[in-house]
Amino acid sequence: MEDKKIIIAIDGHSSTGKSTVAKQIAKELKYIYVDTGAMYRAVALYAMRKNFIDDANLDQAALEKELPNINIKFKINVATGLAEVLLNGENVEEEIRTLRVSKHVSKIAAVSLVRKKLVEQQHQMGKDKGIVMDGRDIGTVVFPNAELKLFMTATAKDRAERRYLELKEREENVSYEDVLKNVVNRDHIDSTRKDSPLRKASDAIKIDNSNLTLNQQFEQILLLAKTAIKNA
Ligand code: DC
Repeated sequence: MEDKKIIIAIDGHSSTGKSTVAKQIAKELKYIYVDTGAMYRAVALYAMRKNFIDDANLDQAALEKELPNINIKFKINVATGLAEVLLNGENVEEEIRTLRVSKHVSKIAAVSLVRKKLVEQQHQMGKDKGIVMDGRDIGTVVFPNAELKLFMTATAKDRAERRYLELKEREENVSYEDVLKNVVNRDHIDSTRKDSPLRKASDAIKIDNSNLTLNQQFEQILLLAKTAIKNA
């Protein structure tokens, strides 16, 4: 008998390596991988380009009015085999990963109408299961009945160090202090917002990866996934 397909929801703090392990697991199980943070980042980029947001203010009404004109899609890059984000047809995969976008995205993600639009799209993507989705509210709001829920965390220092090295590799001119400040600030906004705050679902398995290698983490999660599939 063919294995049943399940939904794997991976939530957690920023820069905990959710997407790294989600991609590995999806590849291994031949599941679809969806990075929901990329969707919020693409909306943030749109708002930045339209000057709806700056360091001090967000013109929420203007953003809400524009929502029907914001189209977000994923497209597989055939060279890497990975999904990349298209914002109104434009590939913005690189631009959405900059610290500039990271600085604004939490405010954008706190807007209920933005969440409503993106969550609807996420439901559609998961309707046939066989999906690994990472974000902040996947196990609590988007797929509360997901067969496997993980909640990833690590110390802010460990997360900022990883993020800093990643940005440096992409030759972004950033300081470690700035990255740490951003990680802490985003956690704060994401966890304290009214709509769908970041929190661990009661039935999610917590994984603190401060002291795990990528491989240890992958093996641990793969085992959990295989068990969840068997029990589905
Ligand atoms: O995972 P990430 O760092 O790329 O996410 C970017 C921001 O988007 C993050 O600060 C919180 C927000 N987000 C969210 O509110 N809900 C999700 N499902 C995914 C991301």
